[in-house]
Amino acid sequence: MGKTSNNIVLIGFMGSGKTTIGKCFADRYQYTFLDTDEYIEQKAGMSIKDIFNTYGEEYFRTLETNCLKELIHTAKSSIISTGGGIPLREENQALLQQLGYVVYLKISKEVVLKRLAGDTKRPLLQGENVELKVEALLQQRDPIYSRVADQVICVDELSVFEVISAVKTCCIK
Ligand code: S3P
Repeated sequence: MGKTSNNIVLIGFMGSGKTTIGKCFADRYQYTFLDTDEYIEQKAGMSIKDIFNTYGEEYFRTLETNCLKELIHTAKSSIISTGGGIPLREENQALLQQLGYVVYLKISKEVVLKRLAGDTKRPLLQGENVELKVEALLQQRDPIYSRVADQVICVDELSVFEVISAVKTCCIK
């Protein structure tokens, strides 16, 4: 199915900078900034952490699917930062593609661990063996992110400004 609007959709692992990049890009190029995690939290009136703790991950994943379905109808000229697990559901992969031009911000395990050291907001990265968790999740997800994306940007060595320029180059003709 074709794209419904001139949106840019940022996908990638936790800590890859989707929210930071989305906000800065929106400021600079007069796009509307949207964030699926924020959207879900506002609608549910609860934090992601509380949604996971109270209702479990599958419930949260369904909220993500619903969120994408709604944004397809409402988002226009927007840059949309998405939760790192959204592309995992097959149904969501087609929805992401429909929502806009999909850019994968690709990051290595080492940089994720550096950026998210001490994080308490992400339920999937709490407890013991965070390094092993990141490694396993990245291994599972990287091929999925790559398949869903229209464009891949390796962000490990890039500044925020450089990532924004790369997004602009591939998305604004
Ligand atoms: C998740 C990523 C988080 C948030 C939730 C689950 C994931 O968003 O949606 O904690 O499964 O990777 P960020 O990618 O913005 O951290």
